[in-house]
Amino acid sequence: MSDLFDTPPDSTELSEEDKEGLIPGHITFRHELNAAEQANILDARVWALGRKHKNLLTEAFLKKLHKQMYGQVWKWAGQFRRKELNIGVPYHQIPTEVKKMFDDVAYWLEQDNGLTHDEIAAQLHHRITYIHPFPNGNGRLARMMADLLLEQLKCPPFTWGTGDHQGDAILSDPAVRERYVQAVKAADGKNFEPLMGFVRS
Ligand SMILES: Nc1ncnc2c1ncn2[C@@H]1O[C@H](COP(=O)(O)OP(=O)(O)OP(=O)(O)O)[C@@H](O)[C@H]1O
Ligand SMILES: [Mg+2]
Repeated sequence: MSDLFDTPPDSTELSEEDKEGLIPGHITFRHELNAAEQANILDARVWALGRKHKNLLTEAFLKKLHKQMYGQVWKWAGQFRRKELNIGVPYHQIPTEVKKMFDDVAYWLEQDNGLTHDEIAAQLHHRITYIHPFPNGNGRLARMMADLLLEQLKCPPFTWGTGDHQGDAILSDPAVRERYVQAVKAADGKNFEPLMGFVRS
């Protein structure tokens, strides 16, 4: 099917740096990369939602899911970053911070301390984006982790600003993306209200 009449493709050419670790040899433009990642992620979603996982709340599972989502596109899929970015914790703290995050989530699930399942899933999502464990793909990974946790808790997945429509509005609609990023930033400042409103909108 042609997407000629949909939104214009992002014809930005990828730099050599952008292409570091890229597996498919034919990819030149941003829109081609986006399409390859989206196809990979769709397969991963089927894989992830279609089976029982012994324990989602482990470093091993987080890496495995990242690899499922990006392993057809990026050589570094499933491996924690080894350099600093202008976002995220210092890279040498990633394993410790990931462990703390999963311990906290497990504790919240065990205790009846007033946090709803939606709140726990949204906190998990936020902590993953905050730690930023991987060189890229953290936002989409965090959103899928939250949805998987919700599935395990027998709750419907979040809608992530998509409303009644299909697809990932955060990627396709700049206004939705802006609302999402503002909500994540508010959560960085410990205000979770915008994020809680966003995830089921
Ligand atoms: N100040 C910020 N600006 C943009 N994103 C931020 C910011 N703070 C946290 N984030 C989070 O980081 C994510 C982007 O990180 P990364 O590029 O690794 O993820 P991605 O999966 O490639 O992106 P996307 O979320 O667009 O699908 C955002 O989705 C958001 O969740
Ligand atoms: Mg990215």
